[in-house]
Amino acid sequence: MEGSSSMLDAEAVADLVLLDPLTEESLVQTLQERFRRRDIYTYIGNVVISVNPYQSLPIYTPEKVEEYRNCSFFAVKPHIYAIADDAYRSLRDRDRDQCILITGESGAGKTEASKLVMSYVAAVSSKGEEVNKVKEQLLQSNPVLEAFGNAKTVRNDNSSRFGKYMDIEFDFKGEPLGGVISNYLLEKSRIVRHVKGERNFHIFYQLLAGASPQLLQQLKLRQDCGHYGYLDREGSSLPGMDDAANFHAMQDAMRIIGFSPTEVTELLQVTAVVLKLGNVQLSSSFQASGMEACSISEPQELHEICELIGLDPGTLERALCSRTVKARDEAVLTTLTVPQGYYGRDALAKNIYSRLFDWLVKRINASIQVKSDKQRKVMGVLDIYGFEIFQDNGFEQFIINYCNEKLQQIFILMTLKEEQEEYVREGIQWTPVEFFDNSIICNLIENNTTGILAMLDEECLRPGVVNEDTFLTKLNQLLATHKHYESKETQNARRVTDASLPPRCFRIHHYAGKVTYNVTGFIEKNNDLLFRDLSQAMWAAQHALLRSLFPEGDPQKVSLKLPPTAGFQFKSSVAMLMKNLYSKNPNYIRCIKPNDTKSAMVFTPELVLAQVRYLGLLENVRVRRAGYAFRQLYGPFLQRYKMLNAQTWPRWDRGDREGTEVLLAGLQFPAEELAFGHTKIFIRSPRTLFDLERRRQERVAELATLIQKMFRGWRCRTQYQLMRKSQILISAWFRGHRQKNRYKQMKRSALILQAYARGWKARKTYRKYFRSSASTCLANFIYRRLVQKYLVGLAKNLPPLSVTDRTWPPAPYRFLDNTNQELKNIFYHWKCKKYRDQLSASRRAQLQARLCASELFKDKKTLYPKSLQQPFRGEYLGLKQNPKYQKLHAVAKDKLVMADSVRKVNRASGKTVPRLLLLTTEHLVLADPKAAQPKTVLSLSDIRGVSVTRFSDGFLALHLKEVSTVGAKGDFLLVSDHLIELVTRLYQTFEATTGQALPLHITDRFSTRFPKGDVSITVVESPKASTNGPVCKKKGSNKMEVLVY
Ligand SMILES: Nc1ncnc2c1ncn2[C@@H]1O[C@H](COP(=O)(O)OP(=O)(O)OP(=O)(O)O)[C@@H](O)[C@H]1O
Ligand SMILES: [Mg+2]
Repeated sequence: MEGSSSMLDAEAVADLVLLDPLTEESLVQTLQERFRRRDIYTYIGNVVISVNPYQSLPIYTPEKVEEYRNCSFFAVKPHIYAIADDAYRSLRDRDRDQCILITGESGAGKTEASKLVMSYVAAVSSKGEEVNKVKEQLLQSNPVLEAFGNAKTVRNDNSSRFGKYMDIEFDFKGEPLGGVISNYLLEKSRIVRHVKGERNFHIFYQLLAGASPQLLQQLKLRQDCGHYGYLDREGSSLPGMDDAANFHAMQDAMRIIGFSPTEVTELLQVTAVVLKLGNVQLSSSFQASGMEACSISEPQELHEICELIGLDPGTLERALCSRTVKARDEAVLTTLTVPQGYYGRDALAKNIYSRLFDWLVKRINASIQVKSDKQRKVMGVLDIYGFEIFQDNGFEQFIINYCNEKLQQIFILMTLKEEQEEYVREGIQWTPVEFFDNSIICNLIENNTTGILAMLDEECLRPGVVNEDTFLTKLNQLLATHKHYESKETQNARRVTDASLPPRCFRIHHYAGKVTYNVTGFIEKNNDLLFRDLSQAMWAAQHALLRSLFPEGDPQKVSLKLPPTAGFQFKSSVAMLMKNLYSKNPNYIRCIKPNDTKSAMVFTPELVLAQVRYLGLLENVRVRRAGYAFRQLYGPFLQRYKMLNAQTWPRWDRGDREGTEVLLAGLQFPAEELAFGHTKIFIRSPRTLFDLERRRQERVAELATLIQKMFRGWRCRTQYQLMRKSQILISAWFRGHRQKNRYKQMKRSALILQAYARGWKARKTYRKYFRSSASTCLANFIYRRLVQKYLVGLAKNLPPLSVTDRTWPPAPYRFLDNTNQELKNIFYHWKCKKYRDQLSASRRAQLQARLCASELFKDKKTLYPKSLQQPFRGEYLGLKQNPKYQKLHAVAKDKLVMADSVRKVNRASGKTVPRLLLLTTEHLVLADPKAAQPKTVLSLSDIRGVSVTRFSDGFLALHLKEVSTVGAKGDFLLVSDHLIELVTRLYQTFEATTGQALPLHITDRFSTRFPKGDVSITVVESPKASTNGPVCKKKGSNKMEVLVY
């Protein structure tokens, strides 16, 4: 670990407690070595020594803040953040109010340290809108107070010219709630006078450099610093300090804190008044009485002041140049001399400014104070001027050094004396350490009767001639034998001659060194009087803020009681501060200034040695080494660490001390690390304590995890049980509900079934008694009756049996229509059958031929209707009877179907020649009528088809198959008087012989095949054709026209 290794680096130990050998030289050397390594912080136990580096080091970054956050004090490099963290955690976790005492001489880095502590605490405490606002207000109080309370001195360019103690208040979680600032003794003399090379308070330069021309005009100021008597003409601007920017930063800070614009304006007006007062010039004039009196030499500035504050210039002039003296209840106005006038003017300027500063602190407090009355924890940060030894030391140095003496006393009391006393009290083995107890010096200054302050007050209040000489004489008388007091007179009495002690001076042997104070100005500064005329004049002004600063100026409240002296006020405020600090756990930051030249990284060992001495660091180390770093009552200790041992955790029933012993025995620390007092446990080294604390943190984390685990388990279990119970309840209810529904449905269905079955059974039993079935019975009966009547009627009235008669009686009822039609058809078919059965074979054949003719020609050839009158005789030639035809009769024999005479059309001319045609069951024979010899015999199977016309002619084309022998002659064109009979019989015979239907074409145009080629025949209806038959006309070689009638 970096921290611990540097801690043990022999040349530059981080904790001086580990220094060996322990001498002033080795201590300074160690500091110097560390400083060289840029380790500006060093510990003595938990006291931090800070050496001002006079340059910015990269050790204050946010990463550093994180590094030190919740760190173990000794595990990291010494740092101001470590002590801030320790204090903050102790406040938050152990509920102990803290104070951080930052001491050191001017320029050692106290104010910077206090700001670092504040910014660290702000960074590590929690964040939130409200908390951030509070933090911001607390941090922003610094620029405002520094503007009004800091100045450049020869030692420090930003020297705090007032003491500041700030209480930061936190709630139980460690969140900042607000704060309270206390200020101590502003160095107001700086307003009117300052050493060459120094400056007045920053605000004046900031105002002149940073204010806008309008603001300057409003405040009646000029930008030129040289114009103002109170400001140093040469050293107005400082290298490295931007007054204008600081002015704007201060204005922003005031806005953040909550100053209203009016308040800011009034504040700046009063500041301007102070500045302008320095330019009010007085001159002497002689009055009528011959007395010298002062008057305003240049009234312009006075008038402007009065305009600013709303006051009659006469009133202010009177108050500045004269004074009301009460003599025997009478007020007498006496004029002032010029020095008196200037004294009054300067006193007024100083008073206004110091009261304004007090008001400023009060106003900031009003903004940052904690509004709620929650329980609070407090961290105080004290940044107060360090010990001062100048060439010429006055009242201020005396007061400041007194304050430092008191702080040293606290330090001694808390860390040294109290520590040793406690060891004795607790019965711990302990070798007392020699240390210097400065209470004797504190007593020399503050004792109520014989203290220097008390005597100064007495001199101030004593009637009669009072001056510093009488005061010094008194001191010399009373303190002649005091070890720490010296003056020329007491030295003389002891016959000591010390040339360094001039007259009108006294010397005090402070813990930090001898300081010679010049008594000049002690009485005046202690009285701090302001002529009543001036305070009354200020009260008379209309300016609300200025007026409120001088309440004693109210003539109604005139009091003859003198106000408390400055010394008295300071003593009581220091006493209050001490009381406050005593109630808290102290943390120390001891600041050391390494050189007098404000140079970076220059270390002057002599200068540091002087500071090491008066800060008592060596004694501090010695006590730390001899003593125990930590002690605590057994009860709280056991309570805090009992979880580290299984025997003491979770409950210990026996005594606290016994418990602590058991607890620590289990942890096996070396015996010399621990000591058991009567009521407290003592732990020698901080490291052991931190080890203990680390173990505790680890254990607490473990326990927290355990508790968390148990709690989570419990929560999940309970949740689970609850869910399970609920689930069971829900499913029980759901199942019940489902079963109930199912049961209801089954019950309903069973009832319906039951009802139907019962109904059915009942109906079955009672059906015969039902009237409703009577209607069906009746209807059936009537129906049957009607049918019977109809059928009987029909039988009686049957139509005639002639097949041509198609009459039939109508159905008497509509419902019998279909039956009637059916019966009609049956009757007709029966009648026909009957008719057919009695026909002769020849008649039957004739009728068949007729039927066939009708199928072939009906509605297709106009000749057909005419043929109906002609009976199919078949034999028209009388072959049997006529002997001429004997030969032909022999050809036909029994197979003859038809014999007729036809005309054959000549295919070449179209003329016709008569022929005899015989149709047998196998052949078609054409014969010459004269010879009665067959000319052409065609087998029926050679016929390809027959074509006839649509008209009432007897023209017919007989198409032959080409393959047949006769066919080679070509188709025959014939004309017959019995065309219908001829074609019908040919058709019937062909079908009977070949089993195929003869193709018959009834058409107007067809083609015939003749030996000389195909001829297309066109049938034309024409009157030219005679009734005998058609006329054929050859048209060209392959066309023939057949004219029909
Ligand atoms: N930690 C630091 N890092 C860098 N510079 C520092 C540090 N501390 C102090 N300084 C420098 O030293 C100067 C003086 O410091 P600071 O004003 O804190 O002194 P002081 O002890 O408050 O003096 P005084 O008693 O006069 O107010 C600062 O202006 C700054 O320049
Ligand atoms: Mg300071």
